[in-house]
Parts: sequence; structure tokens; C-alpha cells
Amino acid sequence: MEAKDIMGISPIVPVIAIDDEKDALPLARALSAGGVNVMEITLRTPAGLKAVEIISKEMPSMNVGTGTVCNEEDIIASKKAGAKFAFSPGISQELIDAAKKHEITLIPGVATASEVMLAQNNGIFYCKLFPATIAGGVDILKAFSGPFSKMNFCPTGGVKLENLNEFLNLKNVMCAGGTWFVPKDAITNNDFDKITKLCIEALDSID
Ligand code: 3PG
Repeated sequence: MEAKDIMGISPIVPVIAIDDEKDALPLARALSAGGVNVMEITLRTPAGLKAVEIISKEMPSMNVGTGTVCNEEDIIASKKAGAKFAFSPGISQELIDAAKKHEITLIPGVATASEVMLAQNNGIFYCKLFPATIAGGVDILKAFSGPFSKMNFCPTGGVKLENLNEFLNLKNVMCAGGTWFVPKDAITNNDFDKITKLCIEALDSID
């Protein structure tokens, strides 16, 4: 799956940390019921990879990938678990080469002009801006649109309902990532209806 298509699935991309793989399918179903058919499941918890494996096998309509992918080992594990893509908070030549070698679409994170240049020079035109609000938020994205007119972003980190439209209204933003509509307590308490409602609230709020 190409980065352009992945970032075009949904204007909001859930960044998920899952503690128990038994929550994987109910969570995927709750997101889908709320209109969100993409999931970034981070490798921050040991259950993350298993969750990706379960969803990719049991719910092929859900586009599931990994997040917090930091090195070749994470790339290999993502591919093996059936991830359709890998998000990274950062970018390095090693990571780009590993994603190419193991044939998985990488959407790296960038926060500076030099990092955008590294992406572009490797033919990558779809990136996260991470951590979005700290890196400069809307202002840095506007500044990047001049020199890097072909680059498309998924700002992540500090995005919430209140500032979602500010980001999505920018021409170089395709979607925005975050945790605000997949709160950890809702997953732990199996309050999946809440997650569906938060997805609907976010999607309805888009200008
Ligand atoms: C992260 O990597 O934790 C994401 O960027 C989510 O950030 P958020 O909690 O500010 O949405």
C-alpha cells in the first residue's frame, strides 16, 4: 500500500498503545463503526505486534500498520505481523533503507527542514510532522510549503479536537494523527462505544 493511499484513508489517524491483544478486534471494530478505517498501533507495548497480527488476519477491511518504528528490527517485525505500513516518529537513512529492503511503506516523522530534505532525497513525499505542536504546528507547515511544495504531512503530537481544523485546512496536510479519540482508559475499561463516539465527534467537526 502506498503512502499516498494510506494518508488518504481517513483525516484522523489513531495512534494506539494497546496493553492487551484481546482488545485489538473490539477496538478495530469501534474505530470502523466511527468511520475510521486506519490504525497506527505503536510498538511501545509488547501487545502491539500481536494486535497488528490479529487485526490484519481477522479484519482485512481495516488498514493496520505499526507506529514508533525506530530501526530495522522494528521494520522486520512490522512486516512479519502483517502491517500494511510503518509510521516512525523520526527519520534516518538506516530506517529508509530497511523499509525499502523489506518492502514495507514507511511514513517517517520529520520536524526540521534537513529532515524533510532527507525524505525528499529518498523519494518520500508523505511524512508525519512530529511532535507537531512543539515542532512549530501550523506555522512550520506553512513555512515548509514554500521550499517543499511536494511534501505532504500528517501532523501528530498535540493534535486534538480544538486544533484539528487548523491543521486539516492546510494544503500540505492530508490527515492528522493522535490519541485524543483513542484514550487509553477507554481501551482498558473496554469502553469501545466511547471510542466510536469520539471518532464521530472528530469527523463531524471537520470543516
Ligand atoms: C505519540 O506518538 O504519542 C503521538 O504523537 C500522539 O500524541 P498525542 O497524545 O499528543 O496525540
